[in-house]
Amino acid sequence: MSQPLFITTAIDYTNGAPHLGHAYEKVLADAIARYQRLDGQTVYFLTGVDQHGQKVQQSAEKAGVSPQVYVAEITAQFRALWERLDVQPDGWVETTDPRHVAIVQSLLQQLHDSGQLYKKNTRRFYSTRQEQDLTDKDRDASGGFGPEWGEVVELEEENWYFKLTEHLPWLRAHLQAHPDFVFPANRLTQLVNAVAAEGMDLCISRPKSRLTWGIELPFDSDYVTYVWFDALTNYISFAGFRDASPATSGLPAWDRTWQGADVVHVIGKDILIPAHGIYWPIMLHACGLPDAEMPRLLVHGWWNARGEKMSKSLGNVIDPNSIADVIGSDGLRYFLLAEMATGQDSDMSDERVLFRYNKELADILGNLLNRTLNMAKKYLGGTLRHTSFGSPGHAALRAKVESLPNALREHLRTWQVQKVLGDLIDTARQANEFIDQTAPFKLAKDPAEADHVASIMGHLAETLTHLSILLQPVMPTAAAKMQQQLGWSPPSGFTLADLHWGLLADGHRLGEPSPIFPKVLPPAD
Ligand code: ME8
Ligand code: MG
Repeated sequence: MSQPLFITTAIDYTNGAPHLGHAYEKVLADAIARYQRLDGQTVYFLTGVDQHGQKVQQSAEKAGVSPQVYVAEITAQFRALWERLDVQPDGWVETTDPRHVAIVQSLLQQLHDSGQLYKKNTRRFYSTRQEQDLTDKDRDASGGFGPEWGEVVELEEENWYFKLTEHLPWLRAHLQAHPDFVFPANRLTQLVNAVAAEGMDLCISRPKSRLTWGIELPFDSDYVTYVWFDALTNYISFAGFRDASPATSGLPAWDRTWQGADVVHVIGKDILIPAHGIYWPIMLHACGLPDAEMPRLLVHGWWNARGEKMSKSLGNVIDPNSIADVIGSDGLRYFLLAEMATGQDSDMSDERVLFRYNKELADILGNLLNRTLNMAKKYLGGTLRHTSFGSPGHAALRAKVESLPNALREHLRTWQVQKVLGDLIDTARQANEFIDQTAPFKLAKDPAEADHVASIMGHLAETLTHLSILLQPVMPTAAAKMQQQLGWSPPSGFTLADLHWGLLADGHRLGEPSPIFPKVLPPAD
């Protein structure tokens, strides 16, 4: 038995409505979780929302409500979207949860007690117009802060710091020994370079005079912890870390969590450096996590919107609901996963959405199901009959179908869901060509070809049955409809290993055809 998979996504900021990037990441993790389960693996999938922080405090102020009320409303929008998109996590994170707060404080206390935190006086530059701290990157060519920042004030402030730099040599060695820490490989190179350039300890606090919507430092009540100790810790606080139950209590330095699993964090490229690639492994290491238990990172690319960067200020943020309204939840899941090569960027355009849906789902897959069931009804009365008839076309279609599980496993070793979908649509395309080449509609006129026709129908229905299983992790609703129409459903506990040619028995009764992907017309201008 392989190692259990513990898969998480970034937790989404509740400072605004969910957008297409959020939907992609959750659907990607959900589909991977479902594929690994289909392959017989034990999987735990964790996702949720990141509810604290300055941006939330500001958004709530603007909306004229308390942060509590504000995050409850946005959290409900995320939950409704995941329900609609069939994103089904095993665990749900909300960082205002008292259990999470207690774990964050216990980690901070542990680091404080072991001398990993210190208080230091620092100066910072603050733009009152933009309401944000400025860094050296914000300086212009002459070294000053430009007029776009409005009045810039220099403030002196004491804050708490984590001795990050002390652990950089460890991280360098870890990355060298574990090149699979980050996927894809080009991101590892970036990370290694970033670690080499890193030279500052991590500020982990904000005085309450500036930020109240956060988790109080357990050893200094004038401060809350700032961003990363709060957000990153979700991956363990919602995973049974320091669970008081008898099974895990009484453990020494590092309480067991993730239960010896292969832990994979699915994140976007913007939060690799420094958060997940530097801060998080170092936090875990400083808290005593053994190297063998370190997580891995799956870093996905960026969705742009109709050729532009998606941003609130450009007003072009895409609401996933608006796409699901047109092509359905499964249509959107399919689009997101078929269109983006895992790790690379993609552009969302209405043309691409309609092309994928109308060409691949309606014309190729939906049409194959419909043609097959209609012909089988007409020529066989809807009942399959096994015959010994064969041809190179029959053999080629069967060989293609039988190659799918291993190809799928191979693609998923590097998270290439789009390649899995490419194989499945290619198979449907090949089955359509098989129909065109064998022309059962002509053969059916000749009684001497009855076995030939029955074998063609059998091959097509069998192909569709395999496709319904293999598409299920991406399009759970459509796959269930396919199975209903095929008159077959997998016995409980069915896995990839149970896939074999001959799922549909001699005498199998097919169900009634009904289009599962009705064509969608482009919007009229
Ligand atoms: O970063 N395309 O939250 P977030 C693809 N709360 N992915 C995108 C994207 C886009 N256009 N925009 C955002 C946070 N994402 C923190 C994470 S984790 C301990 C804390 C991805 O709501 C982004 O890369 O800004 C991140 O992985 C996720 O959506 C949540 O982004
Ligand atoms: Mg592990």
